[in-house]
Amino acid sequence: MLIKSRKQSDLPENQITPESAYVSRRSVIRGLGAGLGLAGLGGLVTAGTGAFAAEAKRKPLDFTRDKPDPDLVLTPEAKVTNHNNFYEFGTGKTDPAQNSQDLKVEPWTLTVEGEVAKPGTVDVWKLMADTNLEERIYRMRCVEAWSMVIPWVGFELGKFLARFEPTSRAKYVAFETLYDPQQMPGQRNRIVGGGIDYPYVEGLRIDEAMHPLSILSVGLYGKTLPPQNGAPIRLVVPWKYGFKGIKSIVKIKLVEKMPPTSWNKLLPQEYGFYANVNPAVDHPRWSQASERFIGPGGLFSVKRQKTLPFNGYGEEVASLYTNMDLRKFY
Ligand code: MTE
Repeated sequence: MLIKSRKQSDLPENQITPESAYVSRRSVIRGLGAGLGLAGLGGLVTAGTGAFAAEAKRKPLDFTRDKPDPDLVLTPEAKVTNHNNFYEFGTGKTDPAQNSQDLKVEPWTLTVEGEVAKPGTVDVWKLMADTNLEERIYRMRCVEAWSMVIPWVGFELGKFLARFEPTSRAKYVAFETLYDPQQMPGQRNRIVGGGIDYPYVEGLRIDEAMHPLSILSVGLYGKTLPPQNGAPIRLVVPWKYGFKGIKSIVKIKLVEKMPPTSWNKLLPQEYGFYANVNPAVDHPRWSQASERFIGPGGLFSVKRQKTLPFNGYGEEVASLYTNMDLRKFY
């Protein structure tokens, strides 16, 4: 069943962050920002205007929602927005929230080019207003063995790409993040940026991109994305490790050959192109058999649980990989 949801009051009880929690969270984070952010990185990173300065700028979205799966416990919004990887803003988990708040996300354009009959550039904010957005509550699994359940808002990547009329030579889809060293301290300094060769790039095979579970997300928890989660538009592919979810995308190119991907370029033995969640294949430095679910509750209530093949989406996506040795194509 689809419910049209416009207001926060439509959200089920467990999805709402009380305003009081919000306010206190804000002040706690501001406090941290003044000390750790600057001291920790020796002043290499601009402090920004404090975490959650951009929170006030997040806009409510108009979207449809499937009836929530009662078995899925959501990761609280404060954890989704404060435990991130976005190396353009530093390699620590709280660096993105700390350092990305001044990222200018409006206006923003996204170019689709390459093997398409109708290449073009879209105004992302207009796209958001003109597209039927839907909420997708997805289990997410990071290669670092933590997981979250996140209520994304977005639209199917495949439907979006179809508008540009991919040609028969379009075998892969290459994605690129904004390159703007002035705004992104990690792009100015190799240490802050974790050694990645920027701009951050990612890729999917065309059938993966066209799969209805693959979305371009423009929001979470009913509002536009905060910068640290990849505002204004990012990729979400729930059966793959989190690093596939490239943030703040400015370019999508349909191509004939498998495109390079940032983590594969940096550490090819550890990160392959496919990056399907596979508990049977260990990361060279740790096991992938289980994960720590970041849910409601404090640090000591973090639950370790078994990781499922394809992150639990095997029924929907395993057929994309028939006859492939997924140990070889990791
Ligand atoms: N996109 C860009 N541009 N830069 C990054 O460093 N990190 C990736 C991915 N997308 C990253 C990125 C990794 S390693 C993960 S786990 C996810 O973003 C984290 O997404 P989240 O902040 O929504 O949890």
